[in-house]
Amino acid sequence: MKTPSPEELEPIETASRDELRALQLQRLKWSLHHAYDNVAHYRRSWDAAGIHPAQVRSLEDLSRFPFTAKRDLREHYPFGLFAVPRERIARLHASSGTTGKPTVVGYTAGDIDTWAALVARSIRAAGGRPGDTVQIAYGYGLFTGGLGAHYGAERLGCTVIPISGGQTEKQVQLIRDLKPNIIMVTPSYLLVIAEEFKRQGLDARATSLRIGILGAEPWSEAMRSQIESTMQIDALDIYGLSEVMGPGVASECVESKDGPVIWEDHFYPEVIDPQSAAVVPDGELGELVLTSLTKEALPIIRYRTRDLTRLLVPTARSMRRMQKVLGRSDDMLIIRGVNVYPSQFEDLILQIGLFAPHYLLEVERAGNLDALTVHVEVAVGVDHSACQGAAAQLAHRIKAYIGVNVAVKTNPCGSLTRSLGKAQHVIDKRKDR
Ligand code: DLL
Repeated sequence: MKTPSPEELEPIETASRDELRALQLQRLKWSLHHAYDNVAHYRRSWDAAGIHPAQVRSLEDLSRFPFTAKRDLREHYPFGLFAVPRERIARLHASSGTTGKPTVVGYTAGDIDTWAALVARSIRAAGGRPGDTVQIAYGYGLFTGGLGAHYGAERLGCTVIPISGGQTEKQVQLIRDLKPNIIMVTPSYLLVIAEEFKRQGLDARATSLRIGILGAEPWSEAMRSQIESTMQIDALDIYGLSEVMGPGVASECVESKDGPVIWEDHFYPEVIDPQSAAVVPDGELGELVLTSLTKEALPIIRYRTRDLTRLLVPTARSMRRMQKVLGRSDDMLIIRGVNVYPSQFEDLILQIGLFAPHYLLEVERAGNLDALTVHVEVAVGVDHSACQGAAAQLAHRIKAYIGVNVAVKTNPCGSLTRSLGKAQHVIDKRKDR
């Protein structure tokens, strides 16, 4: 574990809260004016709400501005929310967009520079240093994961292996031959890589890797323990979203491992009650709302991320942290009236100790009732017949801790579909009807 010395950090990472808040207010005013002056949508919406950037005196005044939602980006597809002429856009990315049009995001050269600096800061927080070798197994392309990680790793002064996602055998070969110290990848795909080591009769604990910088999907504390013991690495959480920038909006420090630190000098966080949309105090669970403070091409004001988390007091840095994301409000399942998130199941499945960290929740309508089947997979080397007791125990624990009745189905090792990027943990057949 490498705790950074104060000289290795940027001054703002150890600044006082007052210094940080003063910088945030100054930047917030700039960002609001920039959005108002250059984006017709913001101007119209704020005029209608009777609020103007010049009225902002404190950070709390931000709560008087309307929210921005994914819908706004879709409605102004592709470039309608950009605040600079198209000629100043150096790069475009887009979200996968499972329904309808993708959302397109743009960056000026200055934005790319800030992004690289923040990902470099994130890698350093995870324990990475100049001279380290970083294997990047996030997808390259329109997804922000690959290129976002790439520019940050180069900025820090690392050697980059830009393999992208997929080609699992090659991932293993490159880890063995090129000896990276750091891997940046989704947690679910890292597990697939670890399995490939086992399949080849190799010890995934005996590689050159020291650090995994994992994100792009929710993953539980139980999953962290599983990954750390399977691969003998420190597993750190990196958070971000394309609408706000990409990876590196927040990232975890290796010395504390207590939730991603939000890089608050560039993004102002709020948490709201998803129903009433009122801002809730720090520490309370709700939906994360982010405002960019320095972005040029696509200033984003009060963006509703749909990610459920809470804001936590600063520890390793002067900035606040966010709790590991519980899930997206869109991923919430309502099973016979009970609200549940896939990550809650993940925790319980892994606690049993006999199951692999791959699972699928299948929801159907049986008569008028919701029926949830939890598909689990037996871990390598575990006898399938030994699992019947464990399956019953899991169903019991799910009832006790989450409050829903489920059927647990055990599957042979390796039978559930593996993902090369973000894992899909839910099939909701009720929606097909
Ligand atoms: O997933 C950016 C990213 C790439 C982050 C690589 C980290 C690493 P999008 O494809 O726009 O961008 O998806 C954003 O992914 O709103 C969350 O729901 C989820 N997400 C991202 N990071 C985490 C994380 C990238 N660490 C959406 N924990 C977000 C939980 C995460 N969920």
